Amino acid sequence: MGCGSLAIYFGFLVAALLLKNCRGAAADWVTCSGIVPMMYRNDKISITDYGGVGDGMTLNTKAFREAIYRIEHLGRRGGTLLYIPPGVYLTESFNLTSHMTLYLAQGAVIKATTDTRHWPLIDPLPSYGRGRERPGGRYMSFIHGDGLRDVIITGENGTIDGQGEIWWNMWRSRTLQFTRPNLIEFINSRSIIISNVIFQNSPFWNIHPVYCSNVVIKYVTILAPADSPNTDGIDPDSSSHVCIEDSYISTGDDLVAVKSGWDEYGIAYGRPSHGITIRRITGSSPFGGIAIGSETSGGIEDVLAEHINLYNMGVGIYLKTNNGRGGIIRNITVSNVYMQNARKGIKFAGDVGDHPDNNFNPNALPVVKDVTIKDVWGVGVLQAGQIQGIKNSPFTGICLSNINLHGYVGPRNPPWKCSDVSGAAVQVSPWPCSELSSTYQADSCSNSF
Ligand SMILES: *[C@@H]1O[C@H](CO)[C@@H](O)[C@H](O)[C@H]1NC(C)=O
Ligand SMILES: *[C@@H]1O[C@H](CO)[C@@H](O)[C@H](O)[C@H]1NC(C)=O
Ligand SMILES: *[C@@H]1O[C@H](CO)[C@@H](O)[C@H](O)[C@H]1NC(C)=O
Repeated sequence: MGCGSLAIYFGFLVAALLLKNCRGAAADWVTCSGIVPMMYRNDKISITDYGGVGDGMTLNTKAFREAIYRIEHLGRRGGTLLYIPPGVYLTESFNLTSHMTLYLAQGAVIKATTDTRHWPLIDPLPSYGRGRERPGGRYMSFIHGDGLRDVIITGENGTIDGQGEIWWNMWRSRTLQFTRPNLIEFINSRSIIISNVIFQNSPFWNIHPVYCSNVVIKYVTILAPADSPNTDGIDPDSSSHVCIEDSYISTGDDLVAVKSGWDEYGIAYGRPSHGITIRRITGSSPFGGIAIGSETSGGIEDVLAEHINLYNMGVGIYLKTNNGRGGIIRNITVSNVYMQNARKGIKFAGDVGDHPDNNFNPNALPVVKDVTIKDVWGVGVLQAGQIQGIKNSPFTGICLSNINLHGYVGPRNPPWKCSDVSGAAVQVSPWPCSELSSTYQADSCSNSF
């Protein structure tokens, strides 16, 4: 008997009580993952039907491309599941298609080739104007989706391995010709689920949804060495309704970074990121934990990050932008964060990140307002916070509430450093800078909860 039928059986008074209980139980486990329904596909094919060999040596590019070509052109009702059995499937990059599930069995590994010479190039993103690292085009992501809908990447925690070391070394030795490939990129796509997969050793950013909507990423594990360059975990970019939950991320750069394009190109393209939820994420990184930016030119709004556990971090909560970016960053809430060992607990900076070229408009100043950070507990945090806005565009409505960040602060390292910022602080320890702790503004801060 479900909650509903019980309620009817016991009559009105009991019904009210039971309904309250049912709602209470549901409220304990809040999730946004319902924004994309999980699709069960009746039509199933296996990579081995297309000549796939999981011996770790055979190149399976043809098998992947043929299997996916078949899914695209047969167009079975309800889509098709492509099964990857246990084994190591080496391959070059490939494109996904709509209405498909890429299903990795337990022990299945899809591994990128280390032969980078024939790696396909694609156009730069219009909101970046060029590759993020190098001028011109960029290498296509290892697994790519452009203009798709209804795509699921899931299974029994199989692995997608970018074998990124060769790319990291090209970056280190400055021999990269074009911008390194993401591990997974979706462009202009919607209704995407990525769940129960392990991503490791991405050449560059791991998961990059750009110009997308309705994207769910849950129960993923993302791993890359702490010294691997730019291996961001998940970067929602000019995308809306993105739900990232229940994942472990340990990489060499930001764990989750919400972005929206780069300087004059991002301003012209004008596509914000909004409606981004980040919940129950654990991880560690020498850079940011929950990050906004630094590419923020299309604007970033309505972001909620909660129940975040961070260990051995550079910066726990990091909002970064720059002059030339333009764009509005507003209504950002980060709450219930535990951090253990961090260089900085909270950092907001208006002077971070480089420019695509010299044509950026130095007067295009970003606007940052209504950012709430609450219920944060940190131990081993060397500096509690640094909140530095932009002189002609101060950050406003910055609210800090119920924050305890304790560590090894010395006399030469003041716990808070602030400039060009206004807002309020309630129950913050160590006590923050005067810009935020004036009592007369405290009301407006607490009103926002
Ligand atoms: C994969 O998609 C990219 C971008 O849409 C396209 O340029 C490329 O030709 C596609 N590759 C294959 C093998 O279909
Ligand atoms: C896969 O990993 C997730 C996240 O770590 C975990 O919750 C889930 O139980 C695992 N599933 C299987 C089938 O091992
Ligand atoms: C702020 O963002 C949250 C999502 O995090 C949203 O529910 C809320 O409506 C937004 N508030 C305003 C004033 O837009």
